[in-house]
Amino acid sequence: MGDLKIFSGNANRPLALGVCKYLGVPLGHAMVGTFKNGETRVKIEQHVRGADVFVIQPTSSPSDHHIMELLIMIDALRRASADRITAVIPYYAYAKQEKKAAGREPISAKLMANLIATAGADRVIAVDLHAPAIQGFFDIPVDHLTAIPILADLLNMQNIGDVVVVSPDSGGVSRANEFRYRINADLAIIAKHRPEPDVAEVLEMVGDVRGRTAVIVDDMISTGGTLEEAADMLLARGAKSVMAYAVHPIMADNACELIRRSKLERVVVTNTIQLSDSCKDHKIIIEPIDWLIGEAIRRTHEGSSISTLFQAPRYRQEPLIP
Ligand code: R5P
Repeated sequence: MGDLKIFSGNANRPLALGVCKYLGVPLGHAMVGTFKNGETRVKIEQHVRGADVFVIQPTSSPSDHHIMELLIMIDALRRASADRITAVIPYYAYAKQEKKAAGREPISAKLMANLIATAGADRVIAVDLHAPAIQGFFDIPVDHLTAIPILADLLNMQNIGDVVVVSPDSGGVSRANEFRYRINADLAIIAKHRPEPDVAEVLEMVGDVRGRTAVIVDDMISTGGTLEEAADMLLARGAKSVMAYAVHPIMADNACELIRRSKLERVVVTNTIQLSDSCKDHKIIIEPIDWLIGEAIRRTHEGSSISTLFQAPRYRQEPLIP
């Protein structure tokens, strides 16, 4: 492989800079802006011929704009003769549209995969895809990273007595299960219903939360409705307190306000998506995962194993050097 080069769109430059710091490489020079007519404008401002290039861009809000930045950057790098291009997508948008739930609906997550490959990406690195099956939407290699062990370790370090891990819906059970194995806790499962898009209604719960600290584990916080509803039910069922650990802080609509006002004691998220300053609050704790993404990039560049990154019995803040 040629030289390692990292570029970033505008979605989360602090994360890209953190990854570069971890790797000890400078962030590549590229102009990523907008023409007056609103179209995305990109110019790679350094030599990339023969290089092993990684483009870091979570497709967070405004998603369509950030997706176009990613696609156009990949196109520019391909035409500039980069040897290999890896799209590093810490948050993959449209992931909840991964199947037709009703007739005449699109499968937008698959369309995203087609666009990324057609633009010229050779590989993808993603973090906690809403549905792991999205890996199969690509015909190029996908490395699927997870921050769940990092979040579980964080909770473990706090030595909170009697914890029960809660999946806020049936789709999240394996994620919550992975988390609770790491901290050796029981599992409870909530049955959630969506009467309309973006509205969460908690129906029932299986498991015993009485007198215990309930920890909701989820992949993303979008409107915050799921967390608010789940917290109310858990407290009504006798939980001592409720916390949430989620990977992607989308924080759509007035989610931050909702969380601030909710009965949740603490909400821990990662930095796959950049939080606005107005959302920062003592209740919301951000755990950076720059090192995880940096380590995955290093291993991809060197051709070493990524799966061993997740095999340690206890995840650690420092990288596990093979
Ligand atoms: C749903 O399947 C996801 O895992 C999350 O629970 C959901 O996206 C959270 O959305 P919201 O915050 O809008 O309730």
